[in-house]
Amino acid sequence: MALDKIEEVGSSKSTFFELLGGEEQGMETLRNLVETFYDIMDSDPKAQPIRAMHPADLTSAREKLFMFLTGWTGGPQLYIERYGHPMLRKRHLPFAVDESARDQWMYCMIKAMHQLKMDEALMTKLAGQLYGVADFMRNQ
Ligand code: HEM
Repeated sequence: MALDKIEEVGSSKSTFFELLGGEEQGMETLRNLVETFYDIMDSDPKAQPIRAMHPADLTSAREKLFMFLTGWTGGPQLYIERYGHPMLRKRHLPFAVDESARDQWMYCMIKAMHQLKMDEALMTKLAGQLYGVADFMRNQ
């Protein structure tokens, strides 16, 4: 993907959701990203501390992150329609999110993006934005 397209993100021209494939492909891309992300969290020893914060069954976490990211990237607001305002920081307060937890979360996400061979420029931009959200989740 051309860098000038990526730079349209945040200008009103393109949303991440459009760059990820829009109506036709965007949801499938995000579904694959979230499935791969949690598969990595579930199996990579580097993510063991954050894996342990999650319930044994990741089905609901997978579904909720997929729904959230679909809306957050500019696609249909699936999470908000179902659960209301995400209040993500508040919802993460029960978990000890420190720099290490944040970095483990980003490690799983970036590894998933690489595994799915996401376009490099898009990956950099998307990971940068997600880092901001992950850092905002820190509560210690
Ligand atoms: C910074 C490190 C993070 C840690 C350690 C973490 C951990 C967790 C845990 C343990 C849960 C509960 C899962 C469950 O009950 O099934 C959760 C829920 C969730 N997380 Fe995170 N998370 C982090 C960052 C993020 C980020 C960056 C996002 C979004 C981009 C996110 C989105 C969500 C969503 C949408 C839910 C479901 C909330 C709900 O409706 O209950 N998390 N997270």
